[in-house]
Amino acid sequence: MECLPGFREFYPEPLPHKDAWSCDARQHIFDAWRSTARRYGFREFDGPPLEPLELYTAKSGAEIVGQLFNFVDKGERAVSMRPEMTPTVSRMVASSERAYKKPIKWFSMPQLFRYEKQQKGRLREHFQLNCDIYGEADIAADAEIVALLVDTLRSLGLTEEDFVIRLSSRQAWQRFFASRGGDPAHEYEFYQVIDKVEREDPEVSAKKLQPLGISYDDVQSFIAAAEPTPELSELIRNLEARGLGGYLKVDYYVIRGLAYYTGVVFEAFDRKGEFRAIAGGGRYDQLVKLLSHGKVDLPALGFGMGDVVLLELLKSRGKLPKFTAGVDVLVMVEDESLRAASLGLVQALREAGRVVEYSLTPAKSDKQFKRALELGARFTAKIEAGPEGSMTVKVKNLASRAESVGDLAAALAATA
Ligand code: HAM
Repeated sequence: MECLPGFREFYPEPLPHKDAWSCDARQHIFDAWRSTARRYGFREFDGPPLEPLELYTAKSGAEIVGQLFNFVDKGERAVSMRPEMTPTVSRMVASSERAYKKPIKWFSMPQLFRYEKQQKGRLREHFQLNCDIYGEADIAADAEIVALLVDTLRSLGLTEEDFVIRLSSRQAWQRFFASRGGDPAHEYEFYQVIDKVEREDPEVSAKKLQPLGISYDDVQSFIAAAEPTPELSELIRNLEARGLGGYLKVDYYVIRGLAYYTGVVFEAFDRKGEFRAIAGGGRYDQLVKLLSHGKVDLPALGFGMGDVVLLELLKSRGKLPKFTAGVDVLVMVEDESLRAASLGLVQALREAGRVVEYSLTPAKSDKQFKRALELGARFTAKIEAGPEGSMTVKVKNLASRAESVGDLAAALAATA
C-alpha cells in the first residue's frame, strides 16, 4: 500500500531510492529556519492542524479556498486541515495581544495541507516557516522581515547568485487600478489577473482585463517601468544599509494570490527562474481586525517559506551537506564475557552526550569494525581486561588511527 498522492514519507540517509525524501535534509532545513528566526528575536508558537472551515472561506481568497482539505467531522462541524498559518496566528494574536509587548515577533514551522494538483514544487502537504510581526506599521518592520527572509536562505548556504527577492506593492497596484477608473468591488479580481499575468498567454490576460476596464499594454508598461513607491525606496535603503541590497529587485509582476495583503508584498525566487516561488509574504494590516470582528486592530506582516521548493533548490545547487548517522563512538564487544562491562561503558558515554552504537548480539570483531566505518563513527572503544580483574578502555580515532588506553575518564576525554 502506498501513501496518498501529494504526501511524503521521510527516510533517514542513505536514502532507499533517488526519489525518496530525506528526513536528515528536512531536519537541516528546520535547524536553519529555527536558528535564524531566533537570531532576529522571534519566539516560537504553534496552533491546531485542524481548524473551523470558516477561518479560511472569507479571508484567504478564492485560490486557497479552492484547495482546502476540508470535511465534516463526527460532531457535524465543517472543518479544514490548515492550508496556511496566517489566519491561525492572527486569531491567536487577536485573542492574546494584551499579554505581549509590541511588536510581537513570532515564528512557527507548521505542516500545511492544500488539495492541489501534484506537480513539481507543489504537493498536498508541505512544511512552512512562518515569521510574522504584529503591532508595527513602520516600513522598518517590512525591512526587518525581508532581511530575515534573506538571512534564512543565506544560512543554508545560498548566495546572491542563487536567489532574488522580488519586491512589489499592493498599494502601487491599487493606485494603478483606481487611477484607471477601476471599480473597487472588482479590485481583488484584478489582483488575481495580475498574479497570473507573467505565466499566462497575453491574449488570455488581455481578455480578463477588458471587462475590468484595464488595458493589457498599460499593465505591461507599468511593470516595465518598475518605479519603486516611496515606501519601497525606503525599504531598499534600509536593506542596503545592512549590505543586503544585492538580493532585491522591484518587480510588479508579483502581487500575491492571497486576498488579505494590503501593502508591500514580495516573493523569493531562484535567480535562474527554474523553480516556483521559494517564499512569499507581505503586509496584511486588516486581517486581525477582520478576524476579531473589529475588536482588535493591529498592523501585521510576515512571510511563509516552504520546504519543497527550497529542498529542490538546495539539491540542484549542491548546497546540502553529506548526512551521516552522526555516531561518535562504536563500542566493540569482542569478548562476550565483557558485555556487561561494555554496556556500562555504552551508558557512561551516552550520559556524557556521545552518540553511541554497539552490536546488540554477538558479532565478529571485523564485522563490528566494518559497521563503525559504515556509520562514519569518529571512534571505536572497547573494554580490555587486565590482570586481577582490572579493566581499561582502548579508544581508536578512526580518522588518525591513533590509539589510547586508559580509564573511563580518559575514554571520555579522548572521545570529546
Ligand atoms: P504562500 O505564497 O501561499 O503564502 O506560500 C508560501 C510558500 O509556501 C510558497 O512560496 C511555497 O514555497 C510554499 N508552498 C505553498 N503551497 C505549497 C504546496 N502546495 N506545496 C509545496 N510548497 C508550497 C502563504 O501561505 C502565506 N500565508 C505566507 C505569509 C505569512 N504571509 C504573511 N505571513
